[in-house]
Amino acid sequence: MGTLEGRVALITGAGRGIGREEALFFAKEGAKVVVNDPGVEIDGTGGDGAVAHSVVEEIVAAGGQAVANLDDVTDWHGAERMVATAVETFGDLHVVVNNAGIERVRSLVATSEEEFDAVIAVHLKGSFAVSRFAARHWREQYDLGARVDRSLVNTASGSGLLNPLPLHTSYAAAKAGIAAMTTVHALELGGYGVRVNCLSPSMARTRLTMEVPGMSERPAPGAFDPFHPAASAPVAAYLAAAGCPLTGQVLTVRGGDVMVNKGWSPGPRVAKEGLWTVGELAAELERLPYDDPFDRLAQALGGALGGEGRERIRAMIDAALAEHG
Ligand SMILES: NC(=O)c1ccc[n+]([C@@H]2O[C@H](COP(=O)([O-])OP(=O)(O)OC[C@H]3O[C@@H](n4cnc5c(N)ncnc54)[C@H](O)[C@@H]3O)[C@@H](O)[C@H]2O)c1
Repeated sequence: MGTLEGRVALITGAGRGIGREEALFFAKEGAKVVVNDPGVEIDGTGGDGAVAHSVVEEIVAAGGQAVANLDDVTDWHGAERMVATAVETFGDLHVVVNNAGIERVRSLVATSEEEFDAVIAVHLKGSFAVSRFAARHWREQYDLGARVDRSLVNTASGSGLLNPLPLHTSYAAAKAGIAAMTTVHALELGGYGVRVNCLSPSMARTRLTMEVPGMSERPAPGAFDPFHPAASAPVAAYLAAAGCPLTGQVLTVRGGDVMVNKGWSPGPRVAKEGLWTVGELAAELERLPYDDPFDRLAQALGGALGGEGRERIRAMIDAALAEHG
């Protein structure tokens, strides 16, 4: 028996990349899956219904159960319809994986209002809207007496949580917001048996990451592929399974590595009885140790910030700004 036998799962953006792998894995583990995806381009424009339908066909051909939904997560009524599709087709909804995502790689000075709004809409508003309608259904069911394990799995990113990536103003802001919502929703929804966690995939080979250096390299035949987009699927399934004890957690997944993230947390402090003068603050605050965003980026790229590291990273940022200015 699969680990998700009898579970009904709605996965947004399940037509491609990480979401597609999650849908296939969930179905193999026995879940009935709503494959949501309007099949848009990387920047969120356009649309192609065949994207979601082909994943459904793949699941059904392998003996699983799935239904396509082509709604856009940024559409309030679309979010409501996705939840309704699960309940009407399969009788209930146990799991939501908020995975849909787009990207607009732009520097702060070049980002337009439309670009910022589009990225925030898909990641942040989309996760909020789908969670909101699912949570309403779950609260109603709880009030009617149902005592069922429900699971919400959000999708964040190292960009926004661990390392600042240049050209990611809107994406990083949205992803940090999703991690913050995860902890708020874990507290709010726990009373109706809903656990809320968040995945933070890292270096998964999809169309969003094809330009990341080294990403197009393939492992030798038969060797483990740490960049395969399927890496997140078993972690999402673990979080989705009835009986998983985790809630309010953000897990980074890179290949076979799964890491528990520690969020913003209290650090060194200075204190005084009464108001500081600016001069006093300068004297006290400047003695404290600080995180260096250059060092965070260097670590994310796989090394520590050595002697010439800062200059190398500065040059990399300048080149990226020149390209996407
Ligand atoms: N690939 C990585 O290494 C990586 C790293 C960190 C986070 N992520 C996150 O993982 C998620 C999946 O990304 P991916 O790399 O598989 O990208 P992808 O482009 O391969 O897949 C994303 C899917 O989301 C769909 N989508 C876009 N807008 C939508 C909308 N408004 N409503 C419903 N569906 C929509 C797209 O049509 C697409 O099929 C995203 O949230 C992304 O930010 C990916």
